[in-house]
Amino acid sequence: MAKLKIGVLISGRGSNLQALIDTCQAPDFPAEISLVLSNIPGVIGLERASQIGIPTATIDHTQFESRKKFDAEMTRVLEENDIKFVFLAGFMRLLSDPFVKRWHDRLVNIHPSLLPAFKGLNVHDRVIQEGARFSGCTVHFVRPALDDGPIIVQACVPVQQDDTPDTLAARVLEQEHIIYPIALKLISNGQVHVTGERAIIDDPIYPEKSLVNPTR
Ligand code: GRF
Repeated sequence: MAKLKIGVLISGRGSNLQALIDTCQAPDFPAEISLVLSNIPGVIGLERASQIGIPTATIDHTQFESRKKFDAEMTRVLEENDIKFVFLAGFMRLLSDPFVKRWHDRLVNIHPSLLPAFKGLNVHDRVIQEGARFSGCTVHFVRPALDDGPIIVQACVPVQQDDTPDTLAARVLEQEHIIYPIALKLISNGQVHVTGERAIIDDPIYPEKSLVNPTR
């Protein structure tokens, strides 16, 4: 059967892109990354893709007079490559409403917090400042509002008293590399359906226990 064609949008180092690439390498995996698109020329993520022969494109947003025109060009290139789902992996541009609408329930993002808490930038700094005991990461379908949309997968990590934004980011990133592939698998297997703005998973497997932090 033909593989589901995935496009990945990046702006930088692409460690989440790498996790998705590695997942698609499994024999018989039902999806393939058919295009990696960056808005910034020469980033490491583009190299990760070309190294294993994945087609890449760079669409430099500074060359467009408006966000809508830039987004329209991205859609044109994604359609030209027959892309069915778009995964954002550290793509550092806000997306216009027409783009989000065109890719409704086919546009997926990963955010380094337990949404709906801590939307936006400087997440880890704010989590530490607030004294939150847990943080984590979220994969979700994209809606026009920032970091909003039906949640597909989340992972939780403890926040430690001596954490810096960097140590917390590293702990969260490790989980990002686990949950983005899980979301890709669920979507590729057709196990995710949005009902009333909730993403419902067919045949989900749940963790058994709750987490407590600190433990005593
Ligand atoms: C990740 O923390 C992701 O959650 C956020 O941007 C970062 C991208 O990292 N949206 P990478 O480029 O995938 O390494």
